[in-house]
Amino acid sequence: MAVDQEGRIVGVVVYGLLGDSPGIASLGVVRDRRCEGIGTRLKQGVMARFAAEMGAGAKVFSEVHRNNGPMLAINDKLGVKRELNPDNRAHWLCAVEVEPEP
Ligand SMILES: CC(C)(COP(=O)(O)OP(=O)(O)OC[C@H]1O[C@@H](n2cnc3c(N)ncnc32)[C@H](O)[C@@H]1OP(=O)(O)O)[C@@H](O)C(=O)NCCC(=O)NCCS
Repeated sequence: MAVDQEGRIVGVVVYGLLGDSPGIASLGVVRDRRCEGIGTRLKQGVMARFAAEMGAGAKVFSEVHRNNGPMLAINDKLGVKRELNPDNRAHWLCAVEVEPEP
């Protein structure tokens, strides 16, 4: 969760084990605080947490609508790989290998 200095929640990320796989189910930032890096930092935080808990090479999965430019921009920046979901070609299946902090 991201909270501003007044205590207002400005971003949330829902993540956990989806089956046996680490995954992000949802990520959102309030409209008036978008494009400030909050979404990127929330995703980086989840990746760091899974890396610490599961070790190098753990893959974090997510699914993104193919027209979701902001989320795809975040994923590209963080080295997330993607392929179209064969069962729903409107969405990308996304995965990134995490590395623990040295
Ligand atoms: C996706 C979302 C979480 C991003 O949050 P955010 O705090 O704005 O993200 P950031 O500021 O870290 O990064 C956004 C990036 O998208 C880019 N961007 C913004 N609008 C864009 C567009 N229309 N097309 C492509 N890229 C775009 C920004 O330039 C930025 O990239 P940069 O850091 O390289 O400049 C937010 O847009 C959101 O809540 N969307 C609705 C919910 C949603 O779609 N969640 C994801 C579901 S999988």
